[in-house]
Amino acid sequence: MTPMSRREALLTVAALGALAARPVWASNSRNSLPIPHERRPNAQGVIAFDARSATRRFLPSRSTPTYGYDGAFLGPALRVRRGQSVTIDFTNRLPEPTTLHWHGLIIPGDVDGGPHRPVAPGDRWRPTLLVDQPAATLWFHPHFYPSTAAQVIKGLAGLLIVDSDETDRLELPSRWGIDDIPLIIQDRRFRSDGAFFDTMNIITAINGYTGNRPLVNGIEYPEARTARGWVRLRVLDGSNARSYRLSASDSRSLFVIGSDGGLLERPVEVNELIIHAGERFELMVDCRSGKPFDLVTQPEGAAIMRLPPFDAPVRLLTIRPEEAEGKGKLPDVLASLPSLPAEPPAVSQELVMNMFRDEAGMMPLMKAGLTMGMAPAGPVAPEVIARVTRLIEGQPALSIAEQLALNGVNGKAYTLNQPGFTAGRGVGLRWRVSEGDDKMLHPVHIHGCQFRILLENGKPPQPHRAGWKDIAPIMNAGTSELLVSFPHPAAADAPYMAHCHILEHEDSGMMTQFTVA
Ligand code: C2O
Ligand code: CU
Ligand code: CU
Repeated sequence: MTPMSRREALLTVAALGALAARPVWASNSRNSLPIPHERRPNAQGVIAFDARSATRRFLPSRSTPTYGYDGAFLGPALRVRRGQSVTIDFTNRLPEPTTLHWHGLIIPGDVDGGPHRPVAPGDRWRPTLLVDQPAATLWFHPHFYPSTAAQVIKGLAGLLIVDSDETDRLELPSRWGIDDIPLIIQDRRFRSDGAFFDTMNIITAINGYTGNRPLVNGIEYPEARTARGWVRLRVLDGSNARSYRLSASDSRSLFVIGSDGGLLERPVEVNELIIHAGERFELMVDCRSGKPFDLVTQPEGAAIMRLPPFDAPVRLLTIRPEEAEGKGKLPDVLASLPSLPAEPPAVSQELVMNMFRDEAGMMPLMKAGLTMGMAPAGPVAPEVIARVTRLIEGQPALSIAEQLALNGVNGKAYTLNQPGFTAGRGVGLRWRVSEGDDKMLHPVHIHGCQFRILLENGKPPQPHRAGWKDIAPIMNAGTSELLVSFPHPAAADAPYMAHCHILEHEDSGMMTQFTVA
């Protein structure tokens, strides 16, 4: 089909009112879902791996320069147990400095891998991590200021899975790649020479990365053959900026069993699930009938995020439950979470996400220019697609000085040596996160803890967002009040970070740092 007739076909479908999700790049042969290799500590308690540059074929006719952990793109799934002490033996074989951050792991500042722990090309870093927190799906990625976004785009990200005896006893589906399926959802945009588009220009620094190709574990629209039974999906939104609105193509229920930092108290049945950049949710899906389904994302987010193919439902992957009978169960009760204090402490810290361009009156103009002609929903007209694509891809890279001054927290753009604020150690604290006038989405992440969301815009969070979290999204001038607590210290030479997890915002100043003592 020519692009025009494909679009006409789409419009026809829309006109018929059919909710027909479509694969993005139809092809006859389906790729199977790559499952990251599990890596456990060896007899000495060590997991060794490197970051390296490579090339990989994403496009039919061109290869793409990539970065990966122990491979060409993404990384292994590290598995650690609660109570274990694990030494990571990391070697940086990249042509540039990087850091290795353990997103969601509750560990002291000096091993957290933030911007203050750069690993130079050729160097090693050997942090010892004492794992003491509930079983959870965490992840690791670079945190080098100010090029986290570009390093993640090239492929640096991996899963870090915490196991525990308590969770093992629940008999959840736990056969890796068979009924326990990791899904790293990302979006990418390619240049005509096959390289990833990764320019930090005014459009990306304000709106975040807007890929036009969805990848799951590094593959477009793959297929996973799973056990027939209950299937557990560990979903990471590993995108730089994009949110997804997930559902099953046949509308079967998704049972949310876990959020960023561990299991919920009970499964929460939903028909769709919104996940933001950096967040994780663990889902259970009933596949006892053996009937296949697709995981679909519906249009979600600001207008610029609804450029094709994301202007219509997009099929992300197929789950084909054809293999042997699965044994996992969906328990009624999953975990017990500490009850929230009836009288929470007074707010001790405010974190306001700022976009300074907004205050200069730039953003409304930019937004109008960008989204002109974009209907609030539905397919986007070809001339609008062309114009907005030219803007996204054609704007020149910002100078480093411009980039670093664009965004901020509490009125200040991030700098490595700014004095941080201080948080008390081991006590429940109430923090409030909010945003300036931009009304954009900011998924706010805090290091050194798993927190609970007390209030979102004044109301208790939805049940599936009421468990352990390390990301609190705010949008539309909203606020989120959090109960945080930091069990470990973070000194001034290795402070914790609090930042927007839209990596282009993080890299352009929307980050701050704090010590814990
Ligand atoms: Cu996932 Cu400070 O990062
Ligand atoms: Cu983190
Ligand atoms: Cu942001």
